[in-house]
Amino acid sequence: MKILSIETSCDESAVSIVDYSLENNQPQIHVLVDLVISQIETHAEYGGVFPALAKREHKKNLPLLITHALEKINSNNNKEQELSQEKRDALTHIFEREPELVPIFQKLYEDFGTPDIQAIIVTHGPGLAPALWVGVNIARALSVLWNIPIIPTNHMEGHITSILLQPNYLEKPKALVQLDQVKLPIIALLISGGHTQLVLVRDWCDYEIIGETIDDAVGEAFDKVARMLGMEYPGGPKVSKAAQQGQENEHIRLPRPMLHSGDYRFSFSGLKTAVRYLVEDLKTQDNFNEQIISDVAREFEHSVTEVLVKKTLKAIDEYGAQGLIIAGGVSANKYITESFQKECDNYGIPLYLPDRAMCGDNSLMIAVAGIINYWKHGEQVFVDQEHVSAIGNLKL
Ligand code: KG4
Ligand code: ZN
Repeated sequence: MKILSIETSCDESAVSIVDYSLENNQPQIHVLVDLVISQIETHAEYGGVFPALAKREHKKNLPLLITHALEKINSNNNKEQELSQEKRDALTHIFEREPELVPIFQKLYEDFGTPDIQAIIVTHGPGLAPALWVGVNIARALSVLWNIPIIPTNHMEGHITSILLQPNYLEKPKALVQLDQVKLPIIALLISGGHTQLVLVRDWCDYEIIGETIDDAVGEAFDKVARMLGMEYPGGPKVSKAAQQGQENEHIRLPRPMLHSGDYRFSFSGLKTAVRYLVEDLKTQDNFNEQIISDVAREFEHSVTEVLVKKTLKAIDEYGAQGLIIAGGVSANKYITESFQKECDNYGIPLYLPDRAMCGDNSLMIAVAGIINYWKHGEQVFVDQEHVSAIGNLKL
């Protein structure tokens, strides 16, 4: 069964096509196409992601990606030249707010007819609503054109299941880790530009958020601190690079927010403010050189890591977790993952990290999340296109 997946929740436009099968009753996929266009450069000028700009870019990128994906699987058999009036009307209705997409998808239909694809998986939340709507409406349009169902999928579940893709997943006909080899329950620490959550994974598709940030997300804090240190958006990786050159410095101390709160809530807004005061202070002392910048970056990274580690280990203890997943954009941070690796080794439990290419937003992880839901619940996960909508604050 071939499935097309779409991700547009933030600043990556992404499309994949995978071939889903059952192997000893376990879900398995072969990745046929995996494409992404990052908008980072478009947003960098503005120092953050602008929803209206993201929407415009997704509208431009997604049709290109879908066309390219269909070309790649060589799926222009079964051509149908003319779009029926009924389908044309449906397209016009779906793209009420994006009328320029009507002729584009009409042309796609003329070029490719009904391709060999049996379902569409699309991120319907959480994320930036205007960005999500582009993906959702395009999925709805394809659902009408190709007469196939939609599996609306949660972006955060995608981050969790991103760890199921094996290294070199593009080359492997069986790209997924065997699900029954991942022992449950498991704790997932989701750290991205928009989220910081500790999730108890009791079973696949059975999640409970046990704690989250009450203000800024970890990635957001990294990006804001980067800005204070004179680094361009998205600054997370740059802070982390600078931190590697940082040294212990008794004048550079930052708080460990909520370290002793006794619960699983996080807060990074006060830490960000503490960095601001520290930087202002260092600047007035005319003491803001490259080494000091690295020292601040290091202390910031240490503070964040200490809090993440302490709360996550508490959760592992309390819930008897058999393993730890760290996913989301910030899981690309080496210091954080190495710190967790040491702790997991001590505990004798596995640490699951996404493949490097799966850390940021992508459509393959969305495909995996949708497929696992289909594998578990069957056709009841299919939703008629009329009932699929974007939900910016969708919960796990
Ligand atoms: O998951 P993601 O690609 O998008 C969201 O859904 O938010 O995460 C992006 C975030 C950005 O804030 C970026 O600065 C941060 O992940 N990030 C990092 C690193 N690489 C990416 N933060 C710290 N260290 C890194 N190496
Ligand atoms: Zn994400």
